[in-house]
Amino acid sequence: MKVLLTGGTGYIGSHTAAELLSKGYEVVLLDNLSNSEEKTVMNIAKVCGKLPKFVKGDACDAEVLEKIFTDHKIDAVVHFAGYKAVGESVEKPLMYYRNNIDSMLSVLEAMKRHGCNTLIFSSSATVYGEDNPVPFVETQRAGGCTNPYGRTKYFIEEILKDAAKADGNLSIVILRYFNPIGSHRVGYLEEQPKGVPNNLFPYICQVAEGKLPKLNVFGNDYPTPDGTGVRDYIHVMDLASGHEAALRYAAEHKGAEVFNLGTGKGTSVLEMVAAFEKARGVKIPYEIAPRRPGDIAECYADCSKAKEILGWEAQYTVEDACKKPLH
Ligand code: NAD
Ligand code: UD1
Repeated sequence: MKVLLTGGTGYIGSHTAAELLSKGYEVVLLDNLSNSEEKTVMNIAKVCGKLPKFVKGDACDAEVLEKIFTDHKIDAVVHFAGYKAVGESVEKPLMYYRNNIDSMLSVLEAMKRHGCNTLIFSSSATVYGEDNPVPFVETQRAGGCTNPYGRTKYFIEEILKDAAKADGNLSIVILRYFNPIGSHRVGYLEEQPKGVPNNLFPYICQVAEGKLPKLNVFGNDYPTPDGTGVRDYIHVMDLASGHEAALRYAAEHKGAEVFNLGTGKGTSVLEMVAAFEKARGVKIPYEIAPRRPGDIAECYADCSKAKEILGWEAQYTVEDACKKPLH
């Protein structure tokens, strides 16, 4: 099976590429390198021993897509490409709507032109918004997002459901990722955010490496066991295998189906700090800071649907994700 991964040199795309290649899939990566580097293509080969095909180009560009679908018999697409910085999406909403929604529509149109009917889409737990009780379950109402980034995910989910209703040949799997962390054990594929990281895990990594002096813990007065925010941190290798499970499912089912990809376990900021310190034998200095606007107290998944229907469940722990990669 030949799979096109848009955004394939990004953090989750590169791990999924390595996973798919190691399971015998053929893989074509499309990326405009707006948030990744071409050397990732070689790094994927270093961790799995197989070199993916790579096309530098934009997933919004119909001509680029046309060439890929003409040159390759693409059986399925995993659409990772998109912008993902929440704060930036508040400042530049049109840029986010244009890139995230346009790329999805362009990919769907190219798929239709070439009779490719299988799509896996990277959505996010952010679509559950602020109003649902935890654990988040796929049957809850989605869409109460607090920012344009989240809304692009919600809008695309709705577009995909409409597309599947109108075209009975389509097999679409919408994966709502919780908080991806960690990297391939061998190394080479770690997330390297540009500038100061917004997310907890890469921020802690940079404190551990001495690039940042201390962690600011955003609030310790939430209604959680230790007062700090609770999230469902999922190892990126588990996410990668979740895509493979989704591809297998989509090969046998039509329609659009949504699945949470999380662990079902909540971890607080202070628990994450403790796990990191234990795994790496380092001290992470931290200070309690004010709450970050837009943050919710708790976010974790009900993962029973993915377990029952995809036969997938997370294997790695937060402690595993904190271990230093070999290179
Ligand atoms: P990433 O930024 O590392 O990867 C996205 C890749 O897409 C980058 O390599 C970027 O260069 C590329 N890209 C962006 N726009 C493009 C375009 N128009 N054409 C071609 N390439 C383009 O992000 P990631 O963490 O790997 O996330 C992958 C997907 O998963 C994104 O859609 C993201 O919104 C979603 N997601 C991520 C998280 C997370 O915390 N990392 C959580 C939930 C959902
Ligand atoms: C963020 C995004 C969300 C995205 C998710 C997964 C925001 C507002 N939301 O959510 O849309 O889907 O990442 O990538 O950015 N924390 C600190 N100090 C820090 C950084 C974070 O205490 O320096 C805390 C946060 O308050 C939170 C937890 O750590 O309680 C996790 O934060 P983060 O990694 O940014 O993820 P989310 O808030 O879940």
